[in-house]
Amino acid sequence: MDIDQDVEPAVRRALFEQVRRHTGIAMNERKWTMLKGRLRRRIMALELPDYRDYLQVLDTNADEVRDFIDLVTTNETSFFRTPRIWEYLANEYLPRWAAAHPGVPLRVWSAAASSGEEAWSMAMLCEEFRARHPAFRYAIVGTDISDGILASASGGRYNGRSMEGLRQNHPALLQKYFRNEGGAIAVGDALRAQVAFRRHNLYDLPRDIGAFDLVLLRNVLIYFDVDGQRSVLANVRRAMRPEGVLIVGESESLSRVAGGFAFEQPLIYRKEERDHEQLA
Ligand SMILES: C[S@@+](CC[C@H](N)C(=O)[O-])C[C@H]1O[C@@H](n2cnc3c(N)ncnc32)[C@H](O)[C@@H]1O
Repeated sequence: MDIDQDVEPAVRRALFEQVRRHTGIAMNERKWTMLKGRLRRRIMALELPDYRDYLQVLDTNADEVRDFIDLVTTNETSFFRTPRIWEYLANEYLPRWAAAHPGVPLRVWSAAASSGEEAWSMAMLCEEFRARHPAFRYAIVGTDISDGILASASGGRYNGRSMEGLRQNHPALLQKYFRNEGGAIAVGDALRAQVAFRRHNLYDLPRDIGAFDLVLLRNVLIYFDVDGQRSVLANVRRAMRPEGVLIVGESESLSRVAGGFAFEQPLIYRKEERDHEQLA
């Protein structure tokens, strides 16, 4: 069989269904070329004749599901992505939060952490803040559904476009918080002490990841349909402390999908307490 021959609509639909089942990501015919391209290499590596056989492997081999998730997720990210948000965090959020919560450690969740740039950016911001406010304490948790990308996140070694962006836009931070590790640029110990990465599917209840003051849920809702966005946001809300702040990505908005969050500024929301909602 030729792997490049047309794939039957039923097989395509079954593959979209597998994507949804394992990640919650909604795909349709418009995404077929992309999905096909991503799976093609894997199918060839497994020496399978075609996509239908791959469906069978997925059904019977739990280890393959892990690779499948790595393949179907889109992991694009960068240090200090969307500068306006980082300006808000540095100039408004952190000073206000620290003044209102003396002695309380700030807990931050990078909820679709990808290769970690967002979590490390937050750690740099917090370290800079701590240099001016020595009593400030914080901890950051980065989670993602893809084991492959989480390994890169906790490895903390960067090159290519990711590193170029940091080098160009924040050379002083690069100098201060990264080190040379056998030719690679790696996150240094000061940041590593504050950040932990772990696997979490946003569709699962956030039972044991803790309660957060600030959640970065950026550039992931776009992959879910409206029902998916609603369940993910309800889960995320459960993991937020009262008055917690939620930040979404540039092309995301909660206006149609989420109760329980009040709009603060574009991309920035605050958790509303249910009692308050009922009164309103
Ligand atoms: C485009 S990246 C966003 C990275 C970062 N938040 C940013 O804005 O730069 C989207 C990430 O969401 C993750 N993801 C997709 N579905 C997920 C799910 N159901 N649960 C947790 N993470 C998921 C992907 O693995 C991917 O790393």
